Amino acid sequence: MFKKEVYIERRNQLKKELGSGIALFMGNEEAAFNYLANTYHFRQDSHFLYFFGLDHPGFTGVIDVDNDKEYIFGNDFDIEDIIWMGVQPKVADMAAEVGIENTSPMNDLSSFIGNGISKGQQIHFLPTYRGTSVIQLTELLGKSIVEVKSGASVDLIKAVVKLKEIKDEYEIAEIEKAVDIAYLMHTTSMKMAMPGVVEQEIAGTIEGISLALGGPVSFPIILSMDGQTLHNHYHGNILEKGRMMVTDAGAETQLHYASDITRTVPVGGKFNTRQKDVYLAVLNAIVNSTAAIKPGLRYREMHFVAAREIVKGLKDIGLMKGDVDDAVAVGAHTLFFPHGLGHMMGMDVHDMEGLGENFVGYDENTIRSEQFGTAYLRLGKELKPGFVLTVEPGCYFIPALIDKFRGEGKFLDFINYDKVETYKDFGGIRIEDDVLVTEDGHRVLGKPIPKTVEDVERTMAEPREFVKLESYI
Ligand code: GLY
Ligand code: MN
Repeated sequence: MFKKEVYIERRNQLKKELGSGIALFMGNEEAAFNYLANTYHFRQDSHFLYFFGLDHPGFTGVIDVDNDKEYIFGNDFDIEDIIWMGVQPKVADMAAEVGIENTSPMNDLSSFIGNGISKGQQIHFLPTYRGTSVIQLTELLGKSIVEVKSGASVDLIKAVVKLKEIKDEYEIAEIEKAVDIAYLMHTTSMKMAMPGVVEQEIAGTIEGISLALGGPVSFPIILSMDGQTLHNHYHGNILEKGRMMVTDAGAETQLHYASDITRTVPVGGKFNTRQKDVYLAVLNAIVNSTAAIKPGLRYREMHFVAAREIVKGLKDIGLMKGDVDDAVAVGAHTLFFPHGLGHMMGMDVHDMEGLGENFVGYDENTIRSEQFGTAYLRLGKELKPGFVLTVEPGCYFIPALIDKFRGEGKFLDFINYDKVETYKDFGGIRIEDDVLVTEDGHRVLGKPIPKTVEDVERTMAEPREFVKLESYI
């Protein structure tokens, strides 16, 4: 964990932002995988981790803003636990490491909250995503499931977003560590992307790199020759020359900060002309939209920079036609680029998405577009120094979407459908980096991962690299 002053300062800031009431942070419990004692790999709640730092199941953190007191509720381990898990620190000792003096057994939480409610204190809690937390909240607050699901505190959500969206130097260093692990995952994926290899071999290998160098992957690996399916988790294809392979994968560090990187490479290691032409459109999109990033601008503008680059590139190939700005204004690019340019990143790979995408990605002056494709943009609002976000343009040939748009006669002034038909076997290309917004611009985080045509081809021709854990810690 970080040093305890970091957590004390975060809680102090939260108290200032929230002003009054009791903020309740539900830590996660172990979650059963296929029977109770066989659990998923434990993952602490990211908000709990941010304010309380303790990476163990069975804790609830409480900040009593009205009385300026902070608590950890949780039970000490008994002898049975120690037999199976070894000697464990006392809850009070763990809490002291993050600057908390008050600890109580979990059984006391209900009367503590009940007492606060009876004194008229507002109990703030965040949206929940696990059924067990919902049930626990219904019992603590005396509310129904529906009331708990709709009753999260907007004041607490806004306060948490305001603090967590600005990453401090320690968090940025952690995210860079996660990107450096992704460097090895992605360069390994490139070098393995040869005809005859099953996608699963590569997905399994790079997941292992994440586990060996940090923690689990930050989201289930997307790796496929069928990159036109945006979140493709099927890894059963045998790689074929002439196809491209998308790898969208990131790692979590031991402190649970994420990376989220995508690269697309030609199976076999050499781009053919058709692949290179589409690739360059996406490469120009990531390079130019990243170059435009600076505080004070809305991220939605960067999305449209990328969209224009995709249209320009597709016009050069003859897949699109007409005026670039007009094509983007009506949304013709969304046939090929039907998702947003990026999202916030932090401990959650889509940072804080569980609090509500609009609270995180939009503000009073930036309303989410209702246009197909553009509506998926998770981050549209004005950028501030300290934001960490992804830049991930793509270009896809999705046969069902091509048939739909063509059948509806959509964008006939901008799309050469006859030529597009000949690309239905192409798949898709996405390229993604993780970027910090700085005081006067931006910085692409981590060791640069090959993305130009020349760098990708050179990397694919090199032997695989085996790195020792020591160099990552
Ligand atoms: N890396 C997957 C996503 O951003 O949705
Ligand atoms: Mn992403």
